[in-house]
Amino acid sequence: MGNVTFSEHKVWDLPTRIFHWVNFISVISLIFIALIMMYKNELGIAGVDAKIALKEIHVTVGYIFVLNLVWRLVWGFVGNKYARWRNILPGRGFVKTVQGYLNSVTDGSPQQYVGHNPLGRLAVSAIILLLIVISLTGLTRAGTDIYYPPFGSFVKGYIAEQGVAPEAIAPYDPKGTDETKMKFLKAFKSPIGKLHKYFAYTLMFIIVIHTLPAMESEAKAGSPR
Ligand code: HEM
Repeated sequence: MGNVTFSEHKVWDLPTRIFHWVNFISVISLIFIALIMMYKNELGIAGVDAKIALKEIHVTVGYIFVLNLVWRLVWGFVGNKYARWRNILPGRGFVKTVQGYLNSVTDGSPQQYVGHNPLGRLAVSAIILLLIVISLTGLTRAGTDIYYPPFGSFVKGYIAEQGVAPEAIAPYDPKGTDETKMKFLKAFKSPIGKLHKYFAYTLMFIIVIHTLPAMESEAKAGSPR
């Protein structure tokens, strides 16, 4: 093997690191609460109040997740070189860059990158897109299911029967709601809920395939010591 020169670069600035940690903790918490929501019967959690409370907790943590994501999206325009979307999202000439990188990998001497390599950029772009869709479907579901912000007040105003104050409407209680409009709301929120769930499953799958190799190499590094 030839000489290897190491040099130190400050790549991930503090705001980017904070984003990563808040994102990591909120995603793990959201998955944990979602699993409780899905297996509540098996866990002996019964009743509509408990069901609503679980959704409220999930949505409250969801707000932290969404605000953190919005902050990261903004930081991609003002942060350091490595945090910028310009250097992450695939742009002009990206296919050639990926081809060049893949060729260098098959030749046995992968091109070295400070920050993400081209495949890493693709993965980060896909994950960010996934997080945006999960946020949008989650917020829509929060508004249409338990009438939480930012869309909840609008939804309540829409489904309220004539002469009923929207504030009087409670989740999972048909009192004061217009039957036809409720039917329409159900038809609207159902596919959004499915999208939210399947995108969440995709994220969970990505997390698993992302962490397995890291755990494997850690186990190898730790074993004979
Ligand atoms: C990485 C982030 C997230 C993951 C992994 C996730 C996962 C899930 C899963 C698996 C469910 C289905 C639970 C069930 O069927 O009982 C669910 C439901 C729900 N999520 Fe999320 N979620 C995330 C983010 C959010 C955000 C940001 C919000 C809104 C602020 C949100 C709002 C909701 C609501 C209201 C439901 C209940 C809807 C229903 O009953 O189908 N989620 N979430």
